[in-house]
Amino acid sequence: MDVRIPHADLFEAIADLKKARNAIILAHYYQEADIQDVADYVGDSLGLSQQAAATDADVIVFAGVHFMAETAKILSPHKTVVLPDLEAGCSLADACPADRFQAFIDAHPGHKVISYVNCSAAVKALSDVICTSSNAADMVRLFPADQPLIFAPDKNLGAYVQRETGREMVLWPGTCQVHEIFSEKKLVQLKVRHPEAAVIAHPECEPHVLQHADHIGSTAQLLSFVVNDPRPTFIVVTEAGILHQMQKAAPHKLLIPAPPEGNCACNECPHMRRNTLEKLYLALLNLRPAIEVPEAVRVAALKPLARMLARDLAAA
Ligand code: 13P
Ligand code: SF4
Repeated sequence: MDVRIPHADLFEAIADLKKARNAIILAHYYQEADIQDVADYVGDSLGLSQQAAATDADVIVFAGVHFMAETAKILSPHKTVVLPDLEAGCSLADACPADRFQAFIDAHPGHKVISYVNCSAAVKALSDVICTSSNAADMVRLFPADQPLIFAPDKNLGAYVQRETGREMVLWPGTCQVHEIFSEKKLVQLKVRHPEAAVIAHPECEPHVLQHADHIGSTAQLLSFVVNDPRPTFIVVTEAGILHQMQKAAPHKLLIPAPPEGNCACNECPHMRRNTLEKLYLALLNLRPAIEVPEAVRVAALKPLARMLARDLAAA
């Protein structure tokens, strides 16, 4: 089969190329619906990392943002990892450069470092353990109660984990540009209009928004809440891409995306949405853009990631 002959149907072309390349497509819930529909696995950051570590495919097409594809490369260095758009970044990762983070750590001697997976490989390499939004409180609890901790780079997730665990931590002052934009005023208006609804929110949201939530969790945890909770209506306070899987899994439930401030489409992550089905096809065809991580950084970043996956600080 000549995989370079363009097909009329992009879905078919991607399926053929995937077979020819022995590739797997991993997609985050915030990707556009078509990308979710061609993916072999759609998941949250933790699930995607676990899949990237376990796959026996030769090529991983990572439909997500740069730090996610980089994490896949750290975990599976001998595989080709491609990201449909190399510019798909993240406001959290971008606002925490490794040199400034090193200075921050130096200014807090005796502290252990927990970094949210939304950071660069170089920042992971400076960390003791990585967490995702689904396991952040559990990772904090791995440390003895008297161990001083730094939590980076999301101050909203960090503050949420502080409330959950009762642990004081030094927080790096980063935020997600999507989750900090939800309007508390409009959320309360929606709640009043839909008293039957459950409000579900991602912990990257600001505390004044999270205080109105009936359930807080990672994207995968929010999805399973919608499936399992008996309520008919859900106000969803996270990036709107997740509604695609929620609606598929719970077709009879009413899902209302929480509105951002102003009239923008700011509840869509501009980084995630850089990826398109066409760019995914080209990435599979050309095996570019490929993710590379310098070996010394990769080896150092692997240790805190392995501790997270093993849920054990002694691992790695
Ligand atoms: P989770 O999928 O882990 O909930 O993370 C959300 C996110 O913002 C990823 O960028
Ligand atoms: Fe980063 Fe926020 Fe986009 Fe997730 S939604 S990739 S945290 S900017």
